[in-house]
Amino acid sequence: SNPSILILPGDGIGPEVMAEVRKIIDWFGAKRGLQFDVSEDLVGGAAYDVHGVPLADATMDKAQEVDAVLLGAVGGPAYDNLDFSVKPERGLLRLRKEMDLFANLRPAQCFDALADFSSLKTDVVAGLDIMIVRELTAGVYFGEPRGIFEEGNERVGINTQRYTESEIERGARAAFELAMRRNKKLCSMEKANVMESGILWRDVVTEVAKDYPEVELSHMYADNGAMQLVRAPKQFDVIYTDNLFGDILSDCAAMLTGSLGMLPSASLGAPMANGRPKAMYEPVHGSAPDISGQGKANPSACILSFAMALRYSFDQGVEADRLEAAVEQVLADGVRTADLMQADGGTPVSTAEMGDAVIAALDAS
Ligand code: NAI
Ligand code: MG
Repeated sequence: SNPSILILPGDGIGPEVMAEVRKIIDWFGAKRGLQFDVSEDLVGGAAYDVHGVPLADATMDKAQEVDAVLLGAVGGPAYDNLDFSVKPERGLLRLRKEMDLFANLRPAQCFDALADFSSLKTDVVAGLDIMIVRELTAGVYFGEPRGIFEEGNERVGINTQRYTESEIERGARAAFELAMRRNKKLCSMEKANVMESGILWRDVVTEVAKDYPEVELSHMYADNGAMQLVRAPKQFDVIYTDNLFGDILSDCAAMLTGSLGMLPSASLGAPMANGRPKAMYEPVHGSAPDISGQGKANPSACILSFAMALRYSFDQGVEADRLEAAVEQVLADGVRTADLMQADGGTPVSTAEMGDAVIAALDAS
């Protein structure tokens, strides 16, 4: 049977950018013989409107069964005042948690055509292609004890950075596997100088490295890593780091490359019975209420997220390259949505025109 995809367009610009991805999925079926069983369901505010919860149980069950989930974005002003337990983001968190997606892959890739868009000098970022692997399901965002407590005559806010060896190890294996498919270079970032969890992190990563003798492993303190990322980002290939540092470092790396509208992500878990990892692919951006419903959104981040699905869930690296090259070609041709225009840049194209341009570039590939 065909590999299966569950599409969860979500809210705001989510459905707008996902419509372009659907065209591209159809193109791969018609032109490259890659057939997928595609189903679609609700998440976020869209699910709340119908079911009173941001992710229905039946949708959760479906997400557990498919080969890959593609998510648009969730949230928006209409849902800002909902009770915490039914907020749109809770739908997303439930997916990540119940699918146990422990490795968050965030590429920072600079297309030549957008190099002048970076907040850094063109030569520092031109040709940049790095991947941050962030541990996503443990660490200080989850560790116990946590809370705000009374202590003497004042309150104290507590979070706990906690990592087990196995939590560090499974993410490390995902990062090393990735390094093997790329340039066999991995930099692990922690703060072993001041944190116990950092000492353990370095230890476990060094141990896992023995199973990957071809990969050149280095270690760096995460604060230096932040500095190096903006000083000379091309020194890195794959970076493996914890949940908190990864949150910050990946946002920092993201801005090396220009617009939020360009950034894809993948979240991977353990292999399923068919050998494919549990997986969810989504753009980094949110539902962009300021531009939603106007056909202005850049669909590239969502399209590039599908390219990651082709590569990591469906073993179609060549087709993933083809799709990424098509997006790059469109940008090189000067076809731009509004977020990619300089002040004097000319006339932006719409979301659908951008998607159509990618299809045309695929046709020509
Ligand atoms: P946002 O990413 O939605 O928007 C930030 C800025 O970037 C806005 O000016 C927006 O117009 C622009 N932008 C974002 N994506 C774009 C695209 N594809 N093309 C062109 N411009 C784009 O973040 P914001 O405004 O902080 O959050 C808006 C809503 O989205 C909130 O409800 C928030 O909770 C939710 N959100 C959801 C996420 C998710 O579903 N994974 C992630 C981040 C925020
Ligand atoms: Mg963040």
